[in-house]
Amino acid sequence: PPDIPLANVKAHLSQLQSIATANGGTRAHGRPGYLASANYVRSQLDAAGYTTALQSFTYNGATGYNVIADWPGGDPNDILMVGAHLDSVTAGPGINDNGSGSAAILETALAVSRQALQPTKHLRFAWWGAEELGLRGSQFYVNNLPAADRARIKGYLNFDMVGSPNAGYFVYDGDNSDGTGSGPGPAGSAQLERTIQDYFTSIGVPTRGTDFDGRSDYGPFIAVGIPAGGTFTGAEGIKTAAQATLWGGTSGQAFDVCYHRACDTTANINDTALDRNADAIAYAVWTTATAVPPV
Ligand code: PHE
Ligand code: CA
Ligand code: ZN
Ligand code: ZN
Ligand code: ZN
Repeated sequence: PPDIPLANVKAHLSQLQSIATANGGTRAHGRPGYLASANYVRSQLDAAGYTTALQSFTYNGATGYNVIADWPGGDPNDILMVGAHLDSVTAGPGINDNGSGSAAILETALAVSRQALQPTKHLRFAWWGAEELGLRGSQFYVNNLPAADRARIKGYLNFDMVGSPNAGYFVYDGDNSDGTGSGPGPAGSAQLERTIQDYFTSIGVPTRGTDFDGRSDYGPFIAVGIPAGGTFTGAEGIKTAAQATLWGGTSGQAFDVCYHRACDTTANINDTALDRNADAIAYAVWTTATAVPPV
């Protein structure tokens, strides 16, 4: 798997920040900054050889958009999806939440193209609209998939907030081994969790499980039995003393003090956390999509 260049991920964040700044400081559903964000992501993917689509839906009287990008090739009956929500809240530009996940998966998709990867699985990337209003884009996508197409999706990896300034290193607890209370996910979620954990182990960074309760766009996928996994560096939760000992940073302070606020700008990013998570995404995509025999 490639080492994803942090500078490239940050360049996408700068573009998303500029889009917000030029559009009233937000990239929220129904605002012009959202469609501009979708067009930015899509143009990058088109130039890299993806087959892209802008899927529109209506929520709250406004049109929302999902960007869907397919990498040609792979087994059409064995699809790995990778997604992140691209919308912000209205209060701010949403650079950590979720420019970070959006930029990290975009750069992973571009690395697939640069390497001319020929995975055994078919790879599909998605940037979701209106997550902040209740997972509307991802729910619309899953609801509108014909049953046969749904059955072809064998796994979904989700990345929502992966550069929190006072970062933790959380992996969705797909097997409920940390007993976060929401129960294990669909069979196969545990394997995705292990693959991501393996990467962090290889770089010597300890991880902890986090709730697998549907508080991001993997929710609609696990609700229909599709295995899912992903990472998270923390939102409004407070870092404990034990977590500060484990990971550094400041105990007694939120993982992201600018969560859902105007100050969620390019200054609100922990470069180390963003770099490690981007590399973890590439590792998980390469490992899962190129496995022989497919897993
Ligand atoms: N979905 C939340 C948001 O966008 C963030 C979040 C992600 C919370 C993952 C918990 C787990 O605001
Ligand atoms: Ca890197
Ligand atoms: Zn949010
Ligand atoms: Zn989010
Ligand atoms: Zn677990």
